Formats: sequence, C-alpha cells, structure tokens
Amino acid sequence: MDKMNHLKDLLLFDVQHLYSAEEQIISALPAMIGKANNPQLRQALEEHLHVTEQQRERLSKVKQMLGSQENENNKSLGIFSELFNSGTKSKGIEGLISEVEKVMGIDMSPEVMDAAIIGCCQKIEHYEICGYGTARTYAEQLGLIDVAQLLQQTLIEEHDADERLTSMAIGNINLQAEMGADMEPAQEQYRNSTPSNSNM
Ligand SMILES: [Fe+2]
Repeated sequence: MDKMNHLKDLLLFDVQHLYSAEEQIISALPAMIGKANNPQLRQALEEHLHVTEQQRERLSKVKQMLGSQENENNKSLGIFSELFNSGTKSKGIEGLISEVEKVMGIDMSPEVMDAAIIGCCQKIEHYEICGYGTARTYAEQLGLIDVAQLLQQTLIEEHDADERLTSMAIGNINLQAEMGADMEPAQEQYRNSTPSNSNM
C-alpha cells in the first residue's frame, strides 16, 4: 500500500472498510434472521437487511464521489485504485460476525438465543457507529459536504437500529430470557405472537 500523506487518504481507507463491513453484514444477516424467534426481532433484522443494502449503495455513491474528485484534482489514482480494487476487508466486522456465528452454534433456549442475537447485533452496530462517525467527521473537515451528508444519513440509521434493539431487549426479550424454563407454558404464545407495539 502506498504511503498515506493526507486525511483524504484515510477517508478513502475507512470508506473501503465500511463498504466491506456492509457486504459482510448483508451476507450474515439471513442466518441471524433464521435463528431469531421473536417476531419483532425477526422483523427488525429483515428491515435492517434492506436498510443495509441501501447503505452499501450509498457507499458506492461515496466511492464514486471521492473518485471523481480525485480525477478533478488531477491526482494519481494509485492509492485510490489500490484501496477500492484490492478487496480490502474489514477484519473488525469479520471478527464480530464470527462471534455471532459461534454464539448461534451454541445450544440455547429460543428466548436466550434472541437476547444473544441482540447483544451481538449491538456490538456490530456500535462498531459501525464508530466507523461512520469518524468517516463523516473526516469528510466534514475536508469540506466534502455531500460525502459527509451521505455518511451522516447512514450514521443516523445505525443509531436508530441500535436504539430499536435496546428497546426490544429491555422491553421484553431479556425478560423472556430471564424467565427461561419457568415460562414454558407461555412459549408457544410468545413465539407465535405478532408485534403488538413497534419500537421504531
Ligand atoms: Fe450498516
């Protein structure tokens, strides 16, 4: 990799890693949806998969914007080409997803599995919030307002997703996991119930 000499190089690097993160999350979410038992949680994960696909598209747009600006400045495309074409992978998200897969392979009651999935998802959300917040601030400092706005849009969505997960956890899912085997008779009703109040 070429030496990075400018904050914009770092922004390009971070955007590439965010793109990789979103791609990995899109690949991982279907298995998490399949493991989720609570209908509200399943619905939230399905909706987040759709949102994540939009976030990936938004990052594609950011990459194009940064690339076209690189051209306008008549700078070398060397580092840009390397960063965007070499398949740079987010090792952070890779690790968090491997943790999710490990957790989903553990024998748990459906209620405990739901609580565990929320916990894993929130680790991923917090990682993304950190990444998007940093990249957004770089873009702002570089005067790349359009790029900053796109990154901010995704940052808001990640915060919303995190808050929704918290609402579900403290609203009933952690309690269901806490009650565990004591609530056997209610399990079928719990699994088959439709969301009664959205946490959106
Ligand atoms: Fe995301």
